[in-house]
Amino acid sequence: MSWNTVQLEWDDDVATLTVDRPDALNALNVATLEAMGEAIEAAANDGARALVLTGAGDAFIAGADIKYMQDLSAEAAQEWGELGHDVADALEAFPAPTIAAVNGYAFGGGCEMALACDLRVASESALIGNTEIDLGIIPGWGATQRLPRLVGDETARRMIFFGERLGADAAAEVGLFGEVVADDDLADAAAELADRIAAKPAFAMRTAKQALNQGYEGPQASGLEYEKRAFASLFGTHDQREGMAAFVEDRDPEFE
Ligand code: CAA
Repeated sequence: MSWNTVQLEWDDDVATLTVDRPDALNALNVATLEAMGEAIEAAANDGARALVLTGAGDAFIAGADIKYMQDLSAEAAQEWGELGHDVADALEAFPAPTIAAVNGYAFGGGCEMALACDLRVASESALIGNTEIDLGIIPGWGATQRLPRLVGDETARRMIFFGERLGADAAAEVGLFGEVVADDDLADAAAELADRIAAKPAFAMRTAKQALNQGYEGPQASGLEYEKRAFASLFGTHDQREGMAAFVEDRDPEFE
């Protein structure tokens, strides 16, 4: 499968999805969002053990396409919001960890796609924020829910109320980025994280992600119950037996 504004590349079991619309700083229009959705599905179906999301050129994703949005009716905006949510949800539910490699501007919907990933690594020159307030709208693809979980309620409110654009170090300080590296090192840093993830037992990794996600689906009590069941369900799998046997036998495990 191929798309005009999205590339999907493979390195062993690691898939990299690059939003490739550099003339618009990778702003997301309908065709690009649809392509992202298809590429994410293809990566899942083809068994990616980690997925990296990044942008072509100097931007990660400069947001939803403002030129497309400016004249939308409320009804059309509802559909548009659903489309962006579907893509963010697909990243969140992706059956393996996802890593946003934030290589530049990540505003509005771009920040929201990064928020929907499991981990975020950024280059020194990245800038991130939910800038929608200055366009007279609010975040439309998940930031009102996902941002406070990551950075805390007060910081999220400040970011969203003031449309703050944070530099990479400031974003790392509030917990929005897990790691900041030199611009030239970003692709390697993301690949290294992805390779480390891909080397882990895939079924346990997927279950860990589902259990972590479940914690956000409802009250903590049901998340804890879910975790108990998910934890128990891994016992008896090849990777559990092998992982523990290898530890006991003081050797490297051979995971499925
Ligand atoms: N939508 C559409 N086009 C965009 C865009 C966007 N979000 N961001 C940048 N572009 C386009 C510009 O219009 C410009 O196109 P032309 O050459 O055809 O004029 C091209 O990309 C380059 O942009 P600039 O000339 O503005 O580049 P710059 O380096 O001077 O500034 C920037 C870069 C600071 C990122 C600036 O472009 C900017 O502020 N962009 C908007 C960022 C933003 O507010 N994003 C949030 C959108 S709202 C949203 O995402 C809602 C949601 O939650 C779903």
